[in-house]
Amino acid sequence: MAIQWYPGHMAKARREVSEALKQVDIIYEIVDARIPESSRNPLLDEIGQGKKRLIILNKADLADPAATRAWIDYYAAHQLPAIAIDAQHTKGINQIAQATRAELAEYVAKQKDRGVRQVLLRAMCIGIPNVGKSTILNRLAQRNIAQAGNTPGVTRAQQWIKTNADIMLLDTPGILWPKFEDPLVGTKLALTGAIKDTLFHPDDVALFALKQLSHQAQDELTKFYHVTPAELQLAGPDLLMQMTAHLGFRDDYERTSWAIINDVRKGRLGRFTWDEVPADGQ
Ligand code: G4P
Repeated sequence: MAIQWYPGHMAKARREVSEALKQVDIIYEIVDARIPESSRNPLLDEIGQGKKRLIILNKADLADPAATRAWIDYYAAHQLPAIAIDAQHTKGINQIAQATRAELAEYVAKQKDRGVRQVLLRAMCIGIPNVGKSTILNRLAQRNIAQAGNTPGVTRAQQWIKTNADIMLLDTPGILWPKFEDPLVGTKLALTGAIKDTLFHPDDVALFALKQLSHQAQDELTKFYHVTPAELQLAGPDLLMQMTAHLGFRDDYERTSWAIINDVRKGRLGRFTWDEVPADGQ
C-alpha cells in the first residue's frame, strides 16, 4: 500500500537515497511500464547526477507492448538505457545484468587496467512506491529479501546481496515520492495503484480510464460490464451511469468506478499504457 507523503518524509527520503547512492556504480530506476514518465521522480536527475542509470520499465505484462517499445526507443534517444521486464513472472530479469555490464564496461576496463582482477559492480533499485522494487530485488537475489512495504528513503541498515558473480545489489530499495503537482499525473498514479486509495475520488480516475477504454477495450467493456455498442458512444459520466445500471449497483457509481480501477490494475481489460511518448520524439 502506498504511503502518504509529507515534507518530512520527502526530506528523509532525499537524504537517505542521496547517501546510499554514494555507494553504487549504477542506479536501477524502476518505473511502471504503464506510466513510464508519470512514475518517475525528477529528483533522481538531480541527486543521481554523474551516476550511470538503467531505467527498468517493470510490469511490462500490463502495458501495451508497442508503447513499451516506443518508450525504450525514446529513452535511448535521450542517452538513457532502458529495458522492459515483468518481475512478477520473472520475465526479462537477465537483461538487468547484461545492461549493467554494458553500461559499466568502461569502468570495468579501467579497473582491469589498474590491476583489479575481479571487478564488482554495485547497484541499487530506486523508485516510487508500488512499482515493483521489492519484487525485482527478490528476483535478482533469488530469495525473499525485502518485505513488500513502503517507508520513505532507505530506512534500515543495508547489506549487499550478490546477484551474479560480478554484480552486488543493496538489499534495501530507495523509495522516492510520486509526482503530485500535475492532476493528470495524479490520476494515472491512482489508476495504477501508486498512491493511496483514500487520496483520490474513484469516479475521476474511472472516468479518465473510460476515455481510453471506450476506444481500445470495447469487447472487454461489453463482456464485463454488459455495455452496448450505442452506449460506448456516450459521454463518460453517462457511460458510467449505464454501466452501474447494468451491474445492478443502483446509483452506486463509486462501486462501479472501483470495479473499473481494479480491473485495469489487474490487466483484466487488456494491456494499456497511459503515458504517451512525446510527439516530437525529443
Ligand atoms: P515496491 O517495492 O516498489 O513498493 O513494489 P512491490 O515489489 O511491493 O510490488 C507492488 C505490487 O506490484 C505487488 O502486488 C507485486 O506483486 C506487483 N508487481 C511487481 N512487479 C510486477 C510485474 O512485473 N507485473 C505485475 N503484473 N505485477 C507486479 P501486490 O502484492 O498484489 O500488491 P498490490 O497490487 O495489491 O499493491
